[in-house]
Amino acid sequence: MEIKVTQAKTNRTRPKDSDLGFGQVFTDHMFVMDYSGEKGWHDPQIVPYANFSIPPSAMVFHYGQAIFEGLKAYKTTDHKICLFRPRDNFKRMNRSAKGMCIPQIDIDFVMDALKQLIRLEEKWIPETLGTSLYIRPTIIATDPFLGVRASITYKFFIILSSVGAYYAEGLNPVKIWVSKDHVRAAKGGVGEFKTAGNYAASLIASEKAKKDGYAQVLWLDAIERKYIEEVGAMNIFFLIGDELVTPNLTGTILPGITRYSVISLAKKWGMAISERKLSIEEVFTAHENNTLKEVFGSGTAAVISPVGEIRYGDKVISIGDGTPGETAMKFYTALTDIQYGKAEDSEHWIEAIE
Ligand SMILES: Cc1ncc(COP(=O)(O)O)c(C=O)c1O
Repeated sequence: MEIKVTQAKTNRTRPKDSDLGFGQVFTDHMFVMDYSGEKGWHDPQIVPYANFSIPPSAMVFHYGQAIFEGLKAYKTTDHKICLFRPRDNFKRMNRSAKGMCIPQIDIDFVMDALKQLIRLEEKWIPETLGTSLYIRPTIIATDPFLGVRASITYKFFIILSSVGAYYAEGLNPVKIWVSKDHVRAAKGGVGEFKTAGNYAASLIASEKAKKDGYAQVLWLDAIERKYIEEVGAMNIFFLIGDELVTPNLTGTILPGITRYSVISLAKKWGMAISERKLSIEEVFTAHENNTLKEVFGSGTAAVISPVGEIRYGDKVISIGDGTPGETAMKFYTALTDIQYGKAEDSEHWIEAIE
């Protein structure tokens, strides 16, 4: 399929790297294509970033049939543009699509479209270490229909946003709050898919956590309310003694690409790494026994986010001394060195945009 390009007439400039937050500054162009039962995916275009015209009856607004992805393009120290495991994001998007009755996309085609879009938007990629161009591929259901069923028509789009350094002031450990009253996902549901409703469902607990001064919610399983699942928009790792533990994927957790990367590096470095059930009691007991050494989240936005405090009802534990742990830092440095081209890409995770 040929991608039609319409150049934007605007000549906006990128804000200073130090003024960039997250997800506020959008670039001049976006990629769009449509799906219909007869034509499949068709009419791929790069067009000026602008509002869509979608009827209020479009199914996405009523029944939330929507999936998305989040990944980043980095400017390396020698001015190359690199993507980190982008095909894994599109594979995950296709898994989400299957789970939400949305048609599959052709990964090679959308990779080419993404590269073409980024080449056109090069000036929007910030250069300071830690900054990046955030990429948001999305698919929404567009049938103008109020009956409940899978839509027949869809819109796929990719928008880009220049984002600032997540850790402009260094990696400060965050405080997390274990949700007792709310759950994120149940087995047999859609927790493992990156679908909009999962984020809507998480808001009430995260608003409560924020009111209490906590940055993120730590989710427990929906049935026994005992086993740790994930934290906010991140997966989670615990260093207990010499064992690095992360919850196993049981269908309720988003399979993070950073999570897979941490597991691969841990194996490569000869660490004892387990993907297993981990109860909140085990974590609190390990803390009592002084074997809970580190806790950190993993995800595209922060890469690695050290955790300094966990609250579970009335019980609060502190982890570490207020500075990031050695293991969290080791993963953070290894991953960001690969992303910014400072270390050899020994795992073949980087896809450069020529
Ligand atoms: C709910 C949830 N869990 C985990 C992750 C981490 O996934 P990744 O490492 O692919 O960014 C994300 C972010 O995408 C998320 O939204």
